[in-house]
Amino acid sequence: MKLEQMLKANPDEIRGEKVYEGKAKALFRTEDPSILLMEFKDDATAFDGKKKGTIVEKGYFNAHISANLNTYLEGQGIATHYLGLMRDRFHLVRHMDMFGLEVVVRNIAAGSLARRLGMDEGTVLPKPILEHYLKADELSDPWINAYHIAAMDLCTPEQLEAMEELAWKINLLLSERLERANLTLVDYKLEFGVDPDGVVRLGDEITPDTCRFWDSTTGDKLDKDRFRQDLGRVEDAYREVLDRLTESEA
Ligand code: TMP
Ligand code: ASP
Repeated sequence: MKLEQMLKANPDEIRGEKVYEGKAKALFRTEDPSILLMEFKDDATAFDGKKKGTIVEKGYFNAHISANLNTYLEGQGIATHYLGLMRDRFHLVRHMDMFGLEVVVRNIAAGSLARRLGMDEGTVLPKPILEHYLKADELSDPWINAYHIAAMDLCTPEQLEAMEELAWKINLLLSERLERANLTLVDYKLEFGVDPDGVVRLGDEITPDTCRFWDSTTGDKLDKDRFRQDLGRVEDAYREVLDRLTESEA
């Protein structure tokens, strides 16, 4: 089946063996070894899985939000894994080798940065900060640096440089795109991988699960912090982000 046909198919028709299941997503093989089916789930976890719950229709909202932002980034010349949105809550993505690293970029102090460095939440950072974490739940995703990455052979120095260059470009592009939707990009987590041609690409998702989005006018939190901090109106926040992205489409 060609990609165009696969995108129109019923996900159940093309769903092969499960290759990965995380807290918020599952990945399945398709008949094409270079293409995976990505399912966005309603399950939500926080604090390294210690808090568990379900956010009604989160899978649908996240699949559409991540599709919107990946399409935008691809259009701006960023290499991503995204191949297209299927019905409901599924993407087709390129099969990549993931580095097992999380790259966090922060524009405004919040979350673990505010806690660790004793900064007030909402402090605008004079320069954005980029951090690396090891993707390892059993170790609570420890904070690591380039020396740890080299010692653990997670990627080559060139690949690390390529990831950081992409992350900085993505920061400018996403901040600007979200501002058009009256959303402030506070911080977010990216995951990268390498495709069979050796190209470093953005993988994973870009959603209110993995980003902090604040209403630029009111400062209202429109992301998973509503779930983490029991702020209520969790589903509404995800729906609001999608609505604003759709309405502010260029
Ligand atoms: P943090 O303040 O908890 O370190 O999170 C920073 C940003 O990265 C926030 O937008 C949430 C996102 N993030 C994830 O998506 N997954 C993770 O495992 C971590 C640690 C952070
Ligand atoms: N530790 C992150 C959080 O608090 C990621 C997670 O466990 O989902 O959201």
